[in-house]
Amino acid sequence: MGIVLQSVVAGGLVWVVWQVWRTFLRCYFESSSVDHLHGPVPKSTFLGSWGDVTGHDSWAFWDDLAENYGGVVKVQGLLGEKNLHVSDPAALHTILVKEQSNFPEPYMFLTMNQVVLGHGLFATEGAVHRKQRKILNPAFASAYLKRLTPVFAQVATRLCDGISAQVKNGAREVDMVKWVARAALEFIGQGGMGYSFDSLVSNEPNAHRDAVKALLPAVFDIPHYLVVLPLARFLVPHRYQRWLVDRYPDKGVQRLKSIVDLLWDKSSDIITARRVAVEKSGEEDTAKDIISILLRANMKASAEDRLPDDQLVAQVSTMISAATDTSSNLMARILSLLTQHPEVQDKLRKEVLESSVVEEDDMSYDTVLSLPYLDAIYRETARLYPVSLYIQRTAEKDTVLPLWKPVMDKHGKSIDSLPIAKGTPVMIGIYAYNRSKAIWGDDAEEWKPERWLAPLPDTFKSLPGTAVYSNMMTFIGGPRGCIGFKYAELEIKTILCHLLKRFKFTATDQVVMWNTSMVVYPTTAEKTSEAKMMMNVELVRS
Ligand code: HEM
Repeated sequence: MGIVLQSVVAGGLVWVVWQVWRTFLRCYFESSSVDHLHGPVPKSTFLGSWGDVTGHDSWAFWDDLAENYGGVVKVQGLLGEKNLHVSDPAALHTILVKEQSNFPEPYMFLTMNQVVLGHGLFATEGAVHRKQRKILNPAFASAYLKRLTPVFAQVATRLCDGISAQVKNGAREVDMVKWVARAALEFIGQGGMGYSFDSLVSNEPNAHRDAVKALLPAVFDIPHYLVVLPLARFLVPHRYQRWLVDRYPDKGVQRLKSIVDLLWDKSSDIITARRVAVEKSGEEDTAKDIISILLRANMKASAEDRLPDDQLVAQVSTMISAATDTSSNLMARILSLLTQHPEVQDKLRKEVLESSVVEEDDMSYDTVLSLPYLDAIYRETARLYPVSLYIQRTAEKDTVLPLWKPVMDKHGKSIDSLPIAKGTPVMIGIYAYNRSKAIWGDDAEEWKPERWLAPLPDTFKSLPGTAVYSNMMTFIGGPRGCIGFKYAELEIKTILCHLLKRFKFTATDQVVMWNTSMVVYPTTAEKTSEAKMMMNVELVRS
């Protein structure tokens, strides 16, 4: 090999090693201010607290994080990785709003989303992400959501008809999480893209629906791929990546590939069908669903703002995966609480029936959203039981996080700001923030819908406005805050009105276990990954 070639290869290797060190390894070895913070004692030298963070029954760990260390905490990850868990309001404001572009999602998360969902909102950052948000934000505005009210009412009616068929001969145990999961998919199908996944009254086959359901289990079936994939994306030139995946000798990978391909084809079909409908409607803006509104806006956008086709297609699966498990599990949690608090259920039903909100099976947008007790129950459940306990970010630059409330470090020193190094993995502590006594008061850990019927504590006056929804972190905040928070609120409140008008729910003997996974979900027994939540359901009126 000539000296020039040898130098190029050596230079290339040094570059690769440097990039891998910089991107993946640096934070493991360098000393950091996070080392001086208190935090849970890791259960394992090698795994750190990773077992708790990813475990399904880690409530003790999350409660400990929320209660015992203040707003910034060290959480030891795999092989000594130093994670910073943040629930301090000022630090969160810096991460999610003020310096948001310096705190992107972890490389692995973005890469996985790019491969599985395409370059949609979940998989892009910087200028591309801003461009997507600019064109998508208006589709979630109240003016458009109002148009969806009859569509939502119609899905909710079908859901009730489906459940009615099961309980028409008397009270029965019903797996309500299955029902609300089916409904959530149909809500985003109809409201998101004018497409039906499920009639809800019968069980017709639907390959698209099956692929949506199979996607996450297929991803988690191949954990090694979650490590190999970001490395491969990092090291292998883009044009060889598909070639590599096609030949990757693993059944799990090939299964995931088929699911992803099918989802992509179905999403492309939806984009084509919606585009035809939008073009047919000409100047008249009758679009109801998110994708049609997006397509119309995209057609009108200037060349520099317009999204290319692959980014439009990617929004379809992005919306489906963002909207389904989140909404259905929050819905399931509310139903579960209503069975534990029958007096609350009765009072809520009374409010719904007296409001005539579901008469004629049509609903007024303003009325649904303004029923005070329904609103209080929705907010309080979303606060105390957020469906994601935390989400991840990575510090892209050295920076200093201001603290709203000082914490005592391991050396007994009170600190009111925390310098953090580039590469520090950050956990946005949704659960801890939503339950902080310093923020919400001494009763922060109680489920008390009434707290929303009175003014919130004065503390909120001194907090930076970070949250997109109601001062809580459930939908986080800033430019990457949940785009669908109003959509979720309308959908869940609509379902609740319809369900309470027609059914009474009571607890069964089966214990409901809530799993501390990426999205918290209910099961009836330990060590099963299948969502299940049985309750007695009887007709209130047919
Ligand atoms: C109770 C229901 C929901 C909850 C708790 C929830 C929560 C969240 C959270 C915490 C994020 C930030 C994720 C991250 O940065 O890693 C997020 C992002 C997102 N959500 Fe939601 N969500 C819900 C419902 C919905 C619905 C119904 C839609 C769509 C109709 C939706 C669409 C999105 C999208 C597209 C993003 C990515 C935003 C971006 O990166 O710009 N979500 N959501």
